[in-house]
Amino acid sequence: MEDKLITSTTTTQNISATEQSVIHIWGQTQLSGEVQISGAKNSALVVMAGSLLCSSGCRLRNIPGLVDVDKMCQIIEALGVKIQRNGEVLDFDTTGFNCHTPPFELVSKLRAAFFAIGPILARMGVAKVPMPGGCSIGARPIELHVRGLQAMGAHVEIEHGIVNAYVTGSSKRLQGAKIYLDYPSVGATETLMMAATLADGETILENAAKEPEVVDLANFCIAIGAKIFGAGTDRITIVGVDKLHSADYSIIPDRVEAATFLVAGAITNSEISLFPVIPDHLTAAVAKLEQIGAKVVLDAPDRLRVVPTGILRGTDIETLPYPAFPTDMQAQFMAMLAISEGNSVITETVFENRLQHVAELKRMGANIKVKGNHAIVEGVAMLSGATVTATDLRASAALVLAGLAAQGKTTIQGLHHLDRGYDRLEAKMRNLGAKIERVHVNGDGDLVAHPEEVIVRV
Ligand code: EPZ
Repeated sequence: MEDKLITSTTTTQNISATEQSVIHIWGQTQLSGEVQISGAKNSALVVMAGSLLCSSGCRLRNIPGLVDVDKMCQIIEALGVKIQRNGEVLDFDTTGFNCHTPPFELVSKLRAAFFAIGPILARMGVAKVPMPGGCSIGARPIELHVRGLQAMGAHVEIEHGIVNAYVTGSSKRLQGAKIYLDYPSVGATETLMMAATLADGETILENAAKEPEVVDLANFCIAIGAKIFGAGTDRITIVGVDKLHSADYSIIPDRVEAATFLVAGAITNSEISLFPVIPDHLTAAVAKLEQIGAKVVLDAPDRLRVVPTGILRGTDIETLPYPAFPTDMQAQFMAMLAISEGNSVITETVFENRLQHVAELKRMGANIKVKGNHAIVEGVAMLSGATVTATDLRASAALVLAGLAAQGKTTIQGLHHLDRGYDRLEAKMRNLGAKIERVHVNGDGDLVAHPEEVIVRV
């Protein structure tokens, strides 16, 4: 058995179990320049599921390079759909869509895959989809999805962790219904909106989620012929049609990635530009950034620039459904508040366990106390580099930000979280001047290879 050094780029998929990818960051380097924001993960995943609604296929553009996108492709291909990928463009051929049971081992690891139950049921009259299961940030229940499908005439049984939904009757077609969501769940709104596009009659979703990714999905569905009104408000009306055709659709830029880079500028006292962005999607994040002490300038309709003012002041943040401050930006802002003057109270109201990054930030010298769903942050002058472990997707981004601001070297483990939701984050940071690299180390932490060189046992 010989070792052969090959050159390839990789995330965390090409290396053996004992080795792992880690990111090293040498902090306190100023950043400058412009960063290109990728397509939105939380649009890409659900619009990809929406492709199942098309009778022949569709083209999706601006799809980010993410592990979760790769997984979603595998799931959709397992249903009989052919996908051609050319960079950020995905071409779907759904003429062979013939399976109503996505593979358990793939769906159970990717919550967004569960949302495909809507289109599968709408197209086939039956769907057997594994429950998404919980993750580190919460139990992630699905009763709002299930109750909505039942209101539309589906019979739903859950056994052995599989949600078995089917429509009886000759037409095997869902019926329009008036549905009130106890909580403005993003996923439930998306699942039910997709299911309703092909239902018989009109569906009204009351207390619907208003997130930009919900609107993006609605716009995709409208582009393929669906009749949807009110997306972006808390009342969405869908008038069912018999068939949906193809479209060439480009998804929106990722507002969470954009907010992550706005914080990167503020936390390193650097002026950086972001493009493309949709400023309206960042209202809450920009308002909080300016309260904390960084100016955000609109240089063009799709270009923002963060301009630090030299001081960061503590403030309070409460996460709530859109358009309030997004839960997906909470960890990143906590990293910045950890070195802001004064005290801040961060209240996480959306997920029950999304404060795990506190322990890792404290390893870097942050002064944070958790009381229930509140994190009380007392700003410190400086964080210090340490070896830390990411606990979930947005926590991993928060640790990168903390490493950029910290004195000394930070090593971040658990990068499989990061690779799920950020497209080449360290390369983008390096292009802005950050001293950051991803390396592969063995069980003892010794360097095995740099990402550009992967040792393959041949
Ligand atoms: C979407 O998750 C996003 N994921 C999440 O992004 C995001 O944090 C979340 O919306 C909130 O904005 C995708 O779009 C793939 P929810 P989703 O249903 O749809 C409870 C990231 O980091 N709930 O709005 O699962 C639920 O437990 C990820 O990119 C029920 O109780 O979120 C949670 O407490 C993380 N019953 C709250 O609602 C249900 O049936 C919000 O969940 C459904 C949800």
